[in-house]
Amino acid sequence: MRAIAEAPAKAIVTGEHFVVHGAWALAAALPRKVHVAVEPSSKFEVVSDQFGKVGSAELLPVSRVVEGMAREFSEKPTVRVTISSDVPGGAGLGSSAATMVAVASAFSKLNSLGLTVPELIDSAMVGERSIHGNPSGIDPAVCAQGGVILFRTEAAPKKVSFEGTRSLILSYSGLKRSTKGQIGHVSKMKDRYPGMFESLAAGISELSLRASEMLRADDMKGLGTLLTVNHAALMSLGVSNDALDKMVDLLLSMGSYGAKLTGAGGGGSVLAVAPEGKEKSIVTGLSARGFETFRATIPAEGVKSWLER
Ligand code: MEV
Repeated sequence: MRAIAEAPAKAIVTGEHFVVHGAWALAAALPRKVHVAVEPSSKFEVVSDQFGKVGSAELLPVSRVVEGMAREFSEKPTVRVTISSDVPGGAGLGSSAATMVAVASAFSKLNSLGLTVPELIDSAMVGERSIHGNPSGIDPAVCAQGGVILFRTEAAPKKVSFEGTRSLILSYSGLKRSTKGQIGHVSKMKDRYPGMFESLAAGISELSLRASEMLRADDMKGLGTLLTVNHAALMSLGVSNDALDKMVDLLLSMGSYGAKLTGAGGGGSVLAVAPEGKEKSIVTGLSARGFETFRATIPAEGVKSWLER
């Protein structure tokens, strides 16, 4: 018998980095998935289509999640974990969080632990902390819960519900980056310019709350304006770079309502919203320039798991 789990990728719509320091952020689960199978074995093993076998740095956090859960719930850590993914790693689209959440969910299912979404998030955070240092928890929260959430540290995520669907454009720069390094850079900026940082964080927190209202009201033009403002704040912190700024410019020049980097920056992906009639040509235009680009319909489901005999 084995347990299977699927968890969605994510996009931070607004508020990344500032969320680590207490601001509100808005995040959406995306309809791209990480698939995980967990089955009993004679030893701990993990195999991934992206990262090879256990021992590779990227897979160590998976063992942390399994060891942590096995210890906490008095279960055997000797399982074989198989991971396959439609989410590019290091692209700012939550590949690591989706993996940790899916591993936690499949391990829970295999051992009939019946963990709730908040408990799965806690288990996934053990792996997330070992990769990212001091993450806010927004990534595993949205990958586990699904849909769209408003998130701040020290509070339960708030679900943002709306009628129908919305669409986002995501485009991957092809540049991998370390979230840990980016979070560390922002903390240094906060230490060096505490007053400026506090005002920026308060502004972005307000911006995330307004962005959630605009998404709800289907005011994509208004949302786009806020995305571009948020990008400027991230540039001012030094977490953007030439490649991402050029992609944002390109998205704006092709008719997007607004665009920004999404996730930790320094590489990874950009996010845009655009008038319906322009989405196709924007996706084609960015793809033709060599950037992996797709249109994502939200809301998307959170983690799901089941047993296979
Ligand atoms: C990464 O998706 C979002 C960051 O804000 C880090 C975090 O909140 O854990 C950069």
